[in-house]
Amino acid sequence: MSKQQDARSNRTHGSTTGAGAPAPSDRNSLTVGPDGPILLHDVHFLEQMAHFNREKVPERQPHAKGAGAFGVFETTEDVSAYTRAALFQKGASTEMLARFSTVAGEMGSPDTWRDVRGFSLKFYTSEGNYDLVGNNTPIFFVRDPMKFPHFIRSQKRLPDSGLRDNHMQWDFWTNNPESAHQVTYLMGERGLPRTWRNMNGYGSHTYMWINAKGEKFWVKYHFHTQQGMEFFSNEEAATMAGADADFHRRDLFDAIERGEHPSWVLSVQVMPYAEAKTYRINPFDLTKTWPHKDYPLIRVGKMTLNRNPENFFAQIEQAAFSPGNTVPGIGLSPDKMLLGRAFAYNDAQRNRIGTNFHQLPVNQPKVPVNTYMFDGQMAYHHSGNAPVYAPNSGDRSWADETGPVAESWETDGEMVRSAYTLRSNDDDFGQPGILVREVFNDEQRAALVDQVAGSLLGGVREPVLRRAFQYWKSVDADVGQRIEQRVREGSASKPAEGMGEG
Ligand code: HEM
Repeated sequence: MSKQQDARSNRTHGSTTGAGAPAPSDRNSLTVGPDGPILLHDVHFLEQMAHFNREKVPERQPHAKGAGAFGVFETTEDVSAYTRAALFQKGASTEMLARFSTVAGEMGSPDTWRDVRGFSLKFYTSEGNYDLVGNNTPIFFVRDPMKFPHFIRSQKRLPDSGLRDNHMQWDFWTNNPESAHQVTYLMGERGLPRTWRNMNGYGSHTYMWINAKGEKFWVKYHFHTQQGMEFFSNEEAATMAGADADFHRRDLFDAIERGEHPSWVLSVQVMPYAEAKTYRINPFDLTKTWPHKDYPLIRVGKMTLNRNPENFFAQIEQAAFSPGNTVPGIGLSPDKMLLGRAFAYNDAQRNRIGTNFHQLPVNQPKVPVNTYMFDGQMAYHHSGNAPVYAPNSGDRSWADETGPVAESWETDGEMVRSAYTLRSNDDDFGQPGILVREVFNDEQRAALVDQVAGSLLGGVREPVLRRAFQYWKSVDADVGQRIEQRVREGSASKPAEGMGEG
């Protein structure tokens, strides 16, 4: 059978128009004779062309490049003393979705450029969807959400050339010294995870847990990889960026296809509610960690990724995660960044995906929804002719909570624009200094000096350069000195591309 005949025989299975009628041809447009003009009433052709023009949605701003998989979270320990959330009751097993990403790169950018990695989780719980949208580092660059758009723009591209720019990145970081802790992580090994399977994940913020008695606790989430932490060197990452820009995406997909299901153990640090008022560090400052000697890890359960998406666009690109999606027994906290994020994500998704993004299968909860959000583009699920307002005299229920709120904290005072009130151990350089001196070994410190010097040599000019030397001397006098010396001598190996690229 010739190729032509073979293809013709497939017509019997055929495709359809969007309206479900048999499509005439997916290979030949309708013309006046074989060489004549195309006819305007070739509805199938026009439908295909018009839809193609609309087949991309805006990429995420930020965290555009990523991928993910479905899995399960199993609560193996009894943490009911801290939370009544159904998904964290011992024995509960909850379907979930994870998405990993880089922050600054665009949709097609290499997976192995130096950057923080996103660690987004959606739990389809019996009380609605719970999203935990974290990173592979336990802290962040800034602590006021007002700074976030400025931060992201400084890490993206110059307005004229459209190029990434080290000067702009360091200008932002050195003008915002609270970034020192996260920048130290980024310039260290965690800036280049070998695969997504080989990195930890953190909720980063402080969240609230509430138990069945209504008692409140502050918690931080830690997901420890069971595959072991592994990293790329600058050289390996740079080679891989050219050889396979989708290396992390491929690695996760292929591992799951092979039946190797990556897993992470979840532990939490728990701070009794009242201790937050007097703890020596502001426990809601996203640039700080809680020392484990003060708040040791308490094991909760295990997440395992075991199912690849069947369709990347429908299930990963259109996935919508939001730190604002909480369930009973879990709340937010006075962390200003977290409060800013509680608004930002769903708003981005109404723009990026569409008004009714929550109705898409990947975003839809597994429990019945009774929302008074009404109509809008692409409304699919609806409430029939039930009342569209509340309160109503029909039989449609509405929410009516009044008085004290379970997931809440006390607040008072004048309205101001101000940084957080400083506590005795609050400073920008103490914790990054400990990371450099007490956590990094000699080799890791040398790699840090090399990475930062290489990045600064990649086009950073005065006065930013001077500020950068001071920034690192404030983190650690010796490391700062060595960075300055290397830059003055003009010697450093070429760092991996991406944030702080050479
Ligand atoms: C005020 C601070 C922040 C704002 C306003 C903000 C805003 C956003 C927005 C608008 C998106 C795109 C969402 C979408 O289109 O679906 C996004 C993605 C993301 N952000 Fe943030 N962000 C902030 C801070 C953070 C922090 C502190 C973390 C980690 C601890 C983080 C982790 C992520 C991750 C992992 C994604 C990708 C979500 C996904 O996989 O779909 N962001 N952010």
